[in-house]
Amino acid sequence: MKTNLIPLIVSFGLLLNSCNTSKEEKTSNNIKLKNQTQLSQVEIGQKLYKGKGNCTSCHQLYKNSIGPSIQEIVGIYKEQNADMIAFLKQEGKPIVKPEQYSVMKTNFAVLKTFSQEELEALTAYMYSIVDRKE
Ligand code: HEC
Repeated sequence: MKTNLIPLIVSFGLLLNSCNTSKEEKTSNNIKLKNQTQLSQVEIGQKLYKGKGNCTSCHQLYKNSIGPSIQEIVGIYKEQNADMIAFLKQEGKPIVKPEQYSVMKTNFAVLKTFSQEELEALTAYMYSIVDRKE
């Protein structure tokens, strides 16, 4: 009798446990969704720029570092009415510092994982930097 109870207790424990984890997942998903809807496109772009894109390792907003500043890049793109999203999708030519294009090229592996919406948010953030300063 005693030994028969053990598997019962174990499975009851597992059942409880699985209930708990699915509950937790549910709440963390809810939080994620809630946060996403609260973020503006520019804020999402900023997160991508700093996070997944890791653009900060070579680009500063107003100063040149390894790469040209975002201010300079956006200035040139605006001046020439160029398509930054096309560049980020490897569908356009470099127009800022073509002689250093090989360095920027290393990012296309990551940029390929960006959806159209993510690329739009990323560029919206970069453009917003310049608009704020003007
Ligand atoms: C390893 C360093 C490095 C990283 C990381 C990096 N860049 Fe660059 N980027 C450069 C360099 C160097 C240039 C100048 C060469 C050029 O103009 O293509 C450049 C140029 C650019 C240009 C102008 C391209 C043109 O038309 O000439 C854009 C737009 C750009 N980067 C966006 C980004 C974004 C967005 C990210 C993050 C996803 C990023 N970069 C990450 C080094 C980097």
